[in-house]
Amino acid sequence: MTRIDPKQLPAHVAIIMDGNGRWAKRKGLSRIHGHQRGADTVRKIVTFSREIGIRFLTLYAFSEENWKRPAHEVKALMKLLNRFLKAELEEMQENGIRLKTIGRVAKLPKSTRQILLDTVEQTSSNTGMTLTLALSYGGRQEIVDAIRKITGQIRENKISPDQIDEELVSNSLYTSGMPDPDLLIRTSGEYRVSNFLLWQISYCEIFITQTLWPDFGEDDFREALLDYQKRERRFGAA
Ligand code: IPE
Ligand code: IPE
Ligand code: MG
Repeated sequence: MTRIDPKQLPAHVAIIMDGNGRWAKRKGLSRIHGHQRGADTVRKIVTFSREIGIRFLTLYAFSEENWKRPAHEVKALMKLLNRFLKAELEEMQENGIRLKTIGRVAKLPKSTRQILLDTVEQTSSNTGMTLTLALSYGGRQEIVDAIRKITGQIRENKISPDQIDEELVSNSLYTSGMPDPDLLIRTSGEYRVSNFLLWQISYCEIFITQTLWPDFGEDDFREALLDYQKRERRFGAA
């Protein structure tokens, strides 16, 4: 079996965790059941990522567009998130995992916001791996928010328009301070980015698997990492 080269690991892996609903449907279960199994996969993949030495793991958990789903599904997803955060705090502390969130978190229910805030604060000095949950996240909304931030600074005479460059834009995004993802994984076989990290994935390697998120395991993750290690990244150079 080919081995993953620890020296050539992607520093930042981002995952579009898709296919919970289809997984449930195939089994004759409710979509909520699919999300529950999806949450179990999150636990496993976070642990595995930490073990193999991924520095940044970013998970698309709830998109800005997902608010369009039926209220009972949204409610169940928030409940699962609350439960996940409460149950995983100890594990995060033991394994040096720092939690971060990106997205319009202010739109989340108050109880979820509170647990998120607490967990982010309590894990803020951990240095093992940064786990970022994208919640109420949209790539276009992120760019809009960055533009608002930058224009605000111009209006207050803190910067001038000619100081706008790629670095300033990057630093004005929710992901400020994080490296861009090296590898983007999407489960369930959809060939689209669904408004995820639009600015940040400009030179990201993409791996799409047919596996549905609740079935995604260490073997699938290994396959994605091995595939990544075979790629030649040129960043536009000859
Ligand atoms: C991903 O699974 C979870 C979220 C988007 C919250 P889906 O719920 O999108 O599952 P499918 O795509 O309908 O199978
Ligand atoms: C993307 O999945 C969002 C998350 C995984 C949270 P969706 O299921 O919402 O995306 P589309 O509708 O297939 O593009
Ligand atoms: Mg989906």
